[in-house]
Amino acid sequence: MEKRIAVLPGEGIGPEVIAQAVKTLRAIEKKFGHHFILTEGLIGAVAIDATGNPFPKETLDLCNSSDAILFGAIGHPKYDNDPQAKVRPEQGLLAMRKQLDLFANIRPVKTYKQLSGASPLKENIVKGIDFVVLRELSSGIYFGEPRGKSHEEAFDTCRYTRKEILRITELAFTYAKARKKKVTLVDKANVLATSQLWREVVAEYAKSHPDITLETMYVDSAAMKLILNPAHFDVILTENLFGDILTDEASVITGSLGMLPSASTGSRISLYEPIHGSFPEAAGKDQANPLATILSAAMMLELSFGLVEESNSINKAVEEAIENNIRTEDIGGSSSCSAVGDYVAARVAS
Ligand code: IPM
Ligand code: MG
Repeated sequence: MEKRIAVLPGEGIGPEVIAQAVKTLRAIEKKFGHHFILTEGLIGAVAIDATGNPFPKETLDLCNSSDAILFGAIGHPKYDNDPQAKVRPEQGLLAMRKQLDLFANIRPVKTYKQLSGASPLKENIVKGIDFVVLRELSSGIYFGEPRGKSHEEAFDTCRYTRKEILRITELAFTYAKARKKKVTLVDKANVLATSQLWREVVAEYAKSHPDITLETMYVDSAAMKLILNPAHFDVILTENLFGDILTDEASVITGSLGMLPSASTGSRISLYEPIHGSFPEAAGKDQANPLATILSAAMMLELSFGLVEESNSINKAVEEAIENNIRTEDIGGSSSCSAVGDYVAARVAS
């Protein structure tokens, strides 16, 4: 199989973790006889420095002419210390989501037996956790207009259309069908009009899918439940901002933000990225955990290219790395980022 992959390393630890995922993809090529054409593009602060634009037209064109996108991380301290900055790296990520219509962010949360000690939560709570969050990604308060800010006042708009809610609901139910057949809609319907529309649309859709159990939960209560009893969940369906917050919270269950991969799927192309950020303090030190990015590459092989066996071979190699203590510091090991990448690639190739 021949596929074109746009590779957007971004900044901070982005390039290091992407390099390990690329190694793994090269091992897959060799082992299974595929050909991946990898082309790098600029996004985030590096793109601002080079072009003035955090998501330049060349990068958009590259994405549009590719079969999938592998993305590292963006965010740079020089902008974090200046919230007034006119252009920010994060705008590149949001522009990419909007322009490529990446409306569904899929974030699986799974615990590994050997890492149950790495979580700050009690072992009996995190044991065998396996759920997935479907976060709406291209609308809501992240994009709603009007928005504004003066010296005295600021406002944002949270807006959702029936169509936007429906398309991610369909995906959530498809996921639930292949899993434990339960969808938990997380909202704030006791306060927000948008949440009330979500409830209406999702409940209506659920009527034609009686094999799936639909449950609704307020976001404050869901935040608590995620920590007290994460085993309760199968598929969490939620809007953009709630999904952002809950998935960072959920990463604590697995022991490290460095373990969680994600896929952002759209009507045409999908993007794969670790859920962690650019972690500037660790940049260039070869100590970041590359597993979230490597697992994101595995998601790409399965979801975008239908290469299930290839994808599983990466997942298995990651399990072996954890089992054999080839781990970075965040999950209780002392291996470097590149040593973990070398190990996983070698296991895939063997
Ligand atoms: C994420 C990140 C982004 C978001 C930031 C960097 C804009 O936190 O992908 O979860 O809020 O969506
Ligand atoms: Mg986030």
